[in-house]
Amino acid sequence: MKIVAISGSVRKESYNSALLRAACDLAEAPMRLELYQQLVTLPAFDPALTEQLVPDAVVEFRSLLAASDGIIICTPEYAHGVPGALKNALDWLVDCADLVLKPAAVMSVATSGLGGVRSFCPMVQVLSAMNWQVVIEASLQVPFAKRRFDDELQLRDELTRQRLSIALSALARVVMELR
Ligand SMILES: Cc1cc2nc3c(=O)[nH]c(=O)nc-3n(C[C@H](O)[C@H](O)[C@H](O)COP(=O)(O)O)c2cc1C
Repeated sequence: MKIVAISGSVRKESYNSALLRAACDLAEAPMRLELYQQLVTLPAFDPALTEQLVPDAVVEFRSLLAASDGIIICTPEYAHGVPGALKNALDWLVDCADLVLKPAAVMSVATSGLGGVRSFCPMVQVLSAMNWQVVIEASLQVPFAKRRFDDELQLRDELTRQRLSIALSALARVVMELR
């Protein structure tokens, strides 16, 4: 069961990417997470290029997701919204027939106490508009990131580990049901 995990932050010391790395470690067989870390290679979305002349980086991105059993997107909140690099990537996926009903979990990690809710909620809307199957039981908001991770960005908070584990199990359950 291959799950592609996308961080909405391209920052080297990103808490959102750190949560996804923790998810990689927590995932139990047959689930296997693969981190997609190429957001910066995707050019600015241009609808004129969606049919022909699709850039190679976009072709690879679409193929990776199409071949997956599910997707996790974990994103910070920038200026009360979805970070531009992530939204740009998603714009390239609008109308991808291979992704219709793809099970997806939305996660957000923030240093503030709101847990990135103003990115989390629009992400659910955007993915639903794209006809992905957002699995709310597999979705998660993590506030106060600095308390949850140590200086090496290892997830140290037991409650968050448990919540993450439960979320991964919920996603695995939906994927199995679809088989
Ligand atoms: C440009 C920018 C805008 C931000 N806007 C918000 C915001 O609207 N709300 C919020 O809670 N945090 C905001 N933050 C703080 C981020 O939540 C925090 O930096 C978080 O650690 C970013 O995620 P990352 O560690 O995965 O990169 C912002 C940070 C940046 C750099």
